[in-house]
Amino acid sequence: MENKVSVGLLGLGVVGSGVIKLIENHQEKLAHQLGCSVQVKRVLVRDLDKSRDVTIDESILTTNPDDVLNDPEIDIIVEVMGGIEEAKQHISRAFAAKKHVVSANKDLVALHGPALQNAANRNKCDFYYEASVAGGIPILRGIADGLSSDHIQQVMGIVNGTTNYILTQMDSEGVSYEDALKAAQELGFAESDPTSDVDGLDAARKMAILARLAFSTAVDLEDVEVTGIRGIELEDLQYGYQMGYTMKLIGFANFDDHELEVNVQPTLLAKSHPLAAVKNEFNAVYVYGEAVGETMFYGPGAGSLPTATAIVSDIISVIKNMRLGVTGNQFIEPHFKKELKTPDKRHAQYYVRIYAKDQSGVFSTISSLFHEREISFKRILQAPIMKKEVAEIVFITHHTTLENFQEALENLGGLDTVLEVKSYYKVEGDAIT
Ligand code: NAP
Ligand code: HSE
Repeated sequence: MENKVSVGLLGLGVVGSGVIKLIENHQEKLAHQLGCSVQVKRVLVRDLDKSRDVTIDESILTTNPDDVLNDPEIDIIVEVMGGIEEAKQHISRAFAAKKHVVSANKDLVALHGPALQNAANRNKCDFYYEASVAGGIPILRGIADGLSSDHIQQVMGIVNGTTNYILTQMDSEGVSYEDALKAAQELGFAESDPTSDVDGLDAARKMAILARLAFSTAVDLEDVEVTGIRGIELEDLQYGYQMGYTMKLIGFANFDDHELEVNVQPTLLAKSHPLAAVKNEFNAVYVYGEAVGETMFYGPGAGSLPTATAIVSDIISVIKNMRLGVTGNQFIEPHFKKELKTPDKRHAQYYVRIYAKDQSGVFSTISSLFHEREISFKRILQAPIMKKEVAEIVFITHHTTLENFQEALENLGGLDTVLEVKSYYKVEGDAIT
């Protein structure tokens, strides 16, 4: 192998600039680890005249993808341009030209990751995408290498910084959802169009990638059930707080008896749970393995340099594989056939808030409705009467199946004494109050 490896960058925005800086600043360390230098040779951008967040020799910038993808000296393509179709075409072309690829693109990997991995393998190329999940946290390596000897049963993640920032601000400062979102946009955490963050799609993409690796199953994006945080009311965070819980957007993936459940939903998490301490824009992934027990990986889920660390570590892995002549060996067919759990096999606790008539017998009607479906209550709280003859009641159930809970909820709304089911959320963990 030559004493220099050349890299082509597709994109020079937030992440691409971080990659340039990290490679430049860590030349000595890279040379020591790899026995060669790493050079960024060409960079694809949209606009040659744009001012950049990094000092760069402008002659290496191009708006023509061929200049990067057809350069015979470039061994590794780093895709940090985002989007789906164009990025997919460029990556496919890179594999066809026997170039290795490192990508940060969770949208693309969630949708087309297995097909691209297959193409990489056919061409004896590497395809790494550590930065696509939880930015600077080395969670994919943690699962694929660090825990490869274990049988992973559960993965829970706070994998979207924008929503975690919003919920933390609502919880700790008592600000409304709208005000917290505005603050997140002003601080640059949330996009100007924050739809995929607040509606949970960004987290769903990351959970699909995590679940595939953790459970060696062909999880598709459409297998992930998604509910976002839009419309969450402060009242629910406040009642949760009183009962020992904090609201988080949790990505949940569980695999037992060879059956799978993956979802993203706002969840009231016991304050004693390790993920409850993850605040503001930080991310964390909690992994439960049969042998290892509880583990948690914590850190920045986005940002220029944190995300660049994941990319440059992927570049290092590729170069080490090149040196050993073992590239293109990552792809392993999923070990387990995909079987999704039906609602009668999905167990959880639930929080419900209702408005009911303030009259005798209301509690007993509600509790017998739940009792008929073998659901018992863990906590019940009646708030002060809001207006004449209307009571606000909050309760948390013990574990039940999703099927029983959905039936009970449907019938609850039909009771004469219940004026409105205001909200309901999944509950995780046991609160100590
Ligand atoms: P960004 O700041 O918008 O940068 C995108 C870059 O790609 C820009 O330099 C842009 O060129 C270039 N580009 C986009 N479309 C192009 C096209 N059709 N032709 C040529 N150049 C094109 O995006 P980013 O935040 O760096 O994110 C890049 C990727 O990393 C995305 O997949 C994102 O999901 C992922 N990611 C980002 C973060 C983060 O913290 N930002 C964290 C984890 C993963 P111009 O500069 O000329 O416009
Ligand atoms: N929009 C994402 C977040 C950026 O808020 O976490 C990193 O993927």
